[in-house]
Order: sequence, then structure tokens, then C-alpha cells
Amino acid sequence: MVTVSTSSANKNLNSSGTSDQLDISDRKQSHLDICHTDAASIQSGIVSGFEGVHFIHDALPELSMEDIDSSCEFLGQRVSLPLFISCMTGGSAQGMTANRKLAEAAEAKNIPVGLGSIRVLLEQENLFEHFHIKPYAPHVPILANIGAVQVRGDDNTKLYKLLEKLQAHALVIHLNPGQELFQPGGDTDFRGLLGAIQQTVKTCPLPVIVKETGFGIRPHQIKTLLNMGVKYVDIAGAGGTNWVLVEAQRLNKNEEQLANEFTDWGLPTAYVLDSVGSMSGRVLASGGLKSGMDLMKSIALGSKMGGLAGIFIRDVLSGGVEAVIRRIEGIEKVIRSVMLLTSSKTLKDVTADKIWRETSFISNVEQIKKAEGM
Ligand SMILES: Cc1cc2nc3c(=O)[nH]c(=O)nc-3n(C[C@H](O)[C@H](O)[C@H](O)COP(=O)(O)O)c2cc1C
Repeated sequence: MVTVSTSSANKNLNSSGTSDQLDISDRKQSHLDICHTDAASIQSGIVSGFEGVHFIHDALPELSMEDIDSSCEFLGQRVSLPLFISCMTGGSAQGMTANRKLAEAAEAKNIPVGLGSIRVLLEQENLFEHFHIKPYAPHVPILANIGAVQVRGDDNTKLYKLLEKLQAHALVIHLNPGQELFQPGGDTDFRGLLGAIQQTVKTCPLPVIVKETGFGIRPHQIKTLLNMGVKYVDIAGAGGTNWVLVEAQRLNKNEEQLANEFTDWGLPTAYVLDSVGSMSGRVLASGGLKSGMDLMKSIALGSKMGGLAGIFIRDVLSGGVEAVIRRIEGIEKVIRSVMLLTSSKTLKDVTADKIWRETSFISNVEQIKKAEGM
């Protein structure tokens, strides 16, 4: 159990003794504290699946490192790597600093950067600067973030105005029913979200991306979302940060035990990715990616790009901008090395025929495909 630094972590509830009045800023801060200091106890009990995939080594690559081009197009811009910093924070003082530092690192390495949910701004616009990272990342794609439940209402005008003010390049809508069920005061009604997303796609001035937050999205639902005009679906599958376990850290002993039963919950990212196929490069891979090697395996399995969350937040909170840049440069080294050792001049050359899958991986993917009617 982690000791969180704010007075409103659920164990120190407000005077009414209920949790639904928890201030969003305090909740955001306690999430940061937990993700930073208690990494081991919030890790999924299952793996992301990438360990069952291997590259076919090429001992005679007709390439020089100078020939390798690891850049790709994303939201109308050329970025240097198929890597993004997943949506995470904002809404507390430390979150604001983290956002700015993540943005600086993203700008330095020319990769996209995500913001945490801007839900708080719908009520407290005075926190705008927490999410206003444009001055720190003027040239890279900025991904704004909101929960699907927040776009279910009739009128998203306020949200769209915020997107404009933030100068974001896409709206990322997150799905997180598992977390909400264990979050004190969290949502319990998830009806109508697909319709709300469809409506948002029609009215939003920016491309819409849909993601989970660490339990993955069913392959047939990924297809449905893409067919309704969602620009990208980010699997955000199991294998890394488990958000029920994050919430467990804020619960009393009894509820914590119940939450812990969801340690193995979720669809592992690699299995979902292989089940759904490339979907014309509109699937993003995140959730449990730990390295440049995982990322490259995701590219070979058909993803457009891969993202990391928990690892980057720990880097930025422990070592600032430099630590994040170091992490990105390490990932870059592996990306480029994998490309050379598989004779892949560009990312388009990193295809499924460059990998082999272990039998258990194939069998797990088959089971998921069968369940999904694919
Ligand atoms: C500190 C922290 C805060 C997060 N906040 C958000 C959020 O506001 N919106 C969202 O869509 N996902 C949020 N996430 C989830 C991540 O974007 C990601 O989907 C999840 O952590 C799984 O990726 P990982 O295994 O690389 O950590 C957050 C993650 C972390 C670590």
C-alpha cells in the first residue's frame, strides 16, 4: 500500500465520508503518487503477449544504418519515430510540471505527446495552464483526452472550444469501465457510449482516436469504431499498468482485496493486435509496451505506432526531461537496430513476414479470433 501525499486520497475522505465529492485534482495527484512509487503492485498479472513474437534475424542485410528511415506520418505531420507518449496527466501541480516536461521531451525528439483527461477543465477552466503544453511542444502532434462518458451529453461545444484553445491535433476518447467501477464515486452506467462516440466523430473539429486504459478493446469493437469514422483505435491493452490495481491502492482493505481479483483482467495488447490485423494502419498499440523491441514487434503485427504511459511517467517524475529523452533515445536505438537486422529500410518494410510466433501465441490469438467471429 502506497502512502499518497494528498489529504483526499480515499482513505482520508471528506467530511461526508463519501467519496464522490473527491476533488479531481487530488485524485489526479494520488494517481501520480501511486504510479510513481508503487510501480510493482499496479502491474498487470498477465503479460502483453509480445514475448511470444520474435524477429527473423537477417545476417546479410544490404543496408547501412544511414539508410534507415524510422519516421512516419501521424495526424498530418512527419514524426521521427512510431512512438507516442500516451495520455496521462494534468489537473494537479505536479501533473502540470510533468505535462510540460513530457512535452519538452516529445518536442526534442519529434514525437506525439498525449494529455491526461481534460474533464477537469470543463468545470475548472482556471486549470487551463495545466494542459496548455503548446508552448513546450510547438511542432509535434498534441493529443487531448476525455472520457467517453463525458461526451455522452447533448452538447460538446465547451469541449470543442477547449480543444481549439489547447491547439490539439486530435481528441482521444478513453474507455475505462473497469477503473470506474473501483474508483470511489466512479461511473457505473456505460450505456450509449458507442452512439456518443459516433456523434462526436460527426461533430468534433478534430480527428477522434479511441483508446482503453490498460484492459484492451475487443477486436470486433475496434472494427466497429474504425468503420464509424474513428481515425485510430489505440488498443491500450493488458500487460502493463492495471487501473483497477491503481484504484485498489486508494480503497479500504476489504475493497482492495476485491479489486485485486482483477489482477489478471484484460485483453493482452499483442493478441488483440494480431487478431484484428493492420486495419489499414489505423490501429495503435499501447498497454504493457516496455521497450523498443515490444514496439517493433507491434509494428510487425500491424500497428501504426506504439505508446508507453507508466514507464514515461516514472521517468519524468524521477529524472525529468533528460530521463524521458534518454528513454526515447534508447527506444530509437532499438527501433533502428531492429530495422537494420530485418533488412527494413522504412517502417513499411517491418511486416508480419519478418516475425515468427510461438505456438502458444498462435493458439491464444486463434481463441480470441474465434470469440470475436473473425
Ligand atoms: C499516471 C497515469 C495517468 C493516466 N491518466 C490517463 C488519462 O487521463 N486518460 C487516459 O486515457 N489514460 C490515462 N492513463 C492510461 C494510459 O494512457 C495507458 O493507457 C495505460 O497506463 C496503459 O499503458 P502502460 O501499460 O504503458 O502504462 C494514465 C496512465 C498513467 C500511468
